[in-house]
Amino acid sequence: MPYPVVGVSPNQLPEWKALAAHAKQLQQTNLGRLFAEDSDRLGWSTFEVGPLHIDLSKNLIQQETLSLLENLARARCLPEAITAMLTGERINVSEDRAVLHTALRNGATLSGPIDGIEVAVAVEKVLARMEQFARTVRNNQRVGCTGKPFSAIVNIGIGGSDLGPAMVTKALYDFSDKSRDMYFVSNIDPIAIEEVFQRCDPATTLFVVVSKTFGTLETLTNAKAARQWILQALGEHEDAVAKHFVAVSTNGELVAEFGIDTDNMFGFWDFIGGRYSVDSAVGLTIMLAIGPERFRSFLRGFASIDLHLRETPLSENGPVLLGLLAVWYRNFLGAQSQAILPYSQRLSRFPAYLQQLTMESNGKSVRIDGATVDYDTGAVYWGEPGTDGQHAFYQLLHQGTVLIPADFILFAEPLGGPNAQQDLLFANGIAQTRALAFGRDDAELEKLGVPAQLRPPRRMPGNRPTTTIFAQRLTPEVLGALIALYEHSVFTQGVIWGIDSFDQWGVELGKELASELAPILTSATAPALDALDASTADLIARYRHMRGRPT
Ligand code: F6P
Repeated sequence: MPYPVVGVSPNQLPEWKALAAHAKQLQQTNLGRLFAEDSDRLGWSTFEVGPLHIDLSKNLIQQETLSLLENLARARCLPEAITAMLTGERINVSEDRAVLHTALRNGATLSGPIDGIEVAVAVEKVLARMEQFARTVRNNQRVGCTGKPFSAIVNIGIGGSDLGPAMVTKALYDFSDKSRDMYFVSNIDPIAIEEVFQRCDPATTLFVVVSKTFGTLETLTNAKAARQWILQALGEHEDAVAKHFVAVSTNGELVAEFGIDTDNMFGFWDFIGGRYSVDSAVGLTIMLAIGPERFRSFLRGFASIDLHLRETPLSENGPVLLGLLAVWYRNFLGAQSQAILPYSQRLSRFPAYLQQLTMESNGKSVRIDGATVDYDTGAVYWGEPGTDGQHAFYQLLHQGTVLIPADFILFAEPLGGPNAQQDLLFANGIAQTRALAFGRDDAELEKLGVPAQLRPPRRMPGNRPTTTIFAQRLTPEVLGALIALYEHSVFTQGVIWGIDSFDQWGVELGKELASELAPILTSATAPALDALDASTADLIARYRHMRGRPT
């Protein structure tokens, strides 16, 4: 059967029903027993995936669970789907586009041009231009219009045009050239751009305006404010905008209309989704921070996972297994959310980055074939770095009434600071996965001398699933691999659910309504509000009143 599978609901398949029956059986046991009864548990549940070690053993699974999930994946044509993505088929059906983020890191196996573009050649060309630009900024050959080198770089973008660059720049700070301050402005809240104005000197500030469409209200509004700020300070220089602004976009026309010369634009293409674009020209800010060579190793990290995805049997395929486990918890064990817990301060924005990647991709309730789903799809992703989370929300993970599978991301080597603290950080991470899995029962509490009446609140039920992702050190390559791991996990989930993981129609209505409502907030005379619902009309009236406008 070719991918996509249409007209078939996954929950009607015998493979799905077999998993449902298996889940019931598995609920009779627990992780403690599963470990005790299977001396080879680590043998079939741990994997080397590029530079990452993945330990699935503390999940609520048996070896049989993985083979039943693999059967479901085959019934949903996952191998065909992977090939379709890597070879540039138009698998983003609702937007009629290919999905080629893997081509950005040489992980695609295309046989011809896509939309008339020789993709590999085009990707390399943009990379070479980015490298040339980054080198000249980093060695102070490219300077502002007054001849001063840049001391601040401001990325203006939102969603995929912000979260990736911001998360990675933070994560790889220790690999970056620290002589320039990096800022990220996304929110249309005026204080966000104002903060940059307060901290930076226009003569030494470079703005990188990133927007795939170049039509996003937040980004264009902030970029206009930045242009105004530059012109106010440096307007006597004809080349003020040319010297202080570059753009990253797929839309040359709108970039030119905004006033940025397309010579100062770095392009990408419709077949790169916003949330899958951090390794395209959207990563220009990252390259400015870490330099071209390290950006290339970042790309190599992605490529190692792409290769693994393509070459490894489903039963040992890291990203596929991660995606199938997400389906297992969501559809068969009733989990509503997934925690992401990086034991790395530098990965503090990683959960937020994954929220867009996972929730914008798989928060869908209509299948590719137009049918409404009658099963759950994408979970809520959330998280904070360990050990901070331990002192905030882990209580609920340990003793709450909901099942929350958690990914623990651990590293052996620190990025700096007192070396011995890394041992404590790691000890905390594995201690948590152990406590979550095996808990503490009454017998153990008794041994510890806890009187019977004090035991109930101290009882730790255990049997709470975790996946451990472990690497030597958070390097550019490891980070690239980590991102690609989740990208392909998201794709795997989408294929099982039969949804389009690459569109995002759900965000459009809010955008439309905001542009309709904005003039009603600001009109010089009191607007007629009776066409609106009572709540919206009342909030507008109150807002206008508070802003001193006629109501
Ligand atoms: O509103 C959602 C979205 O379209 C995201 O998918 C995207 O990453 C973000 O807005 C920004 O879009 P753009 O890069 O076109 O400004």
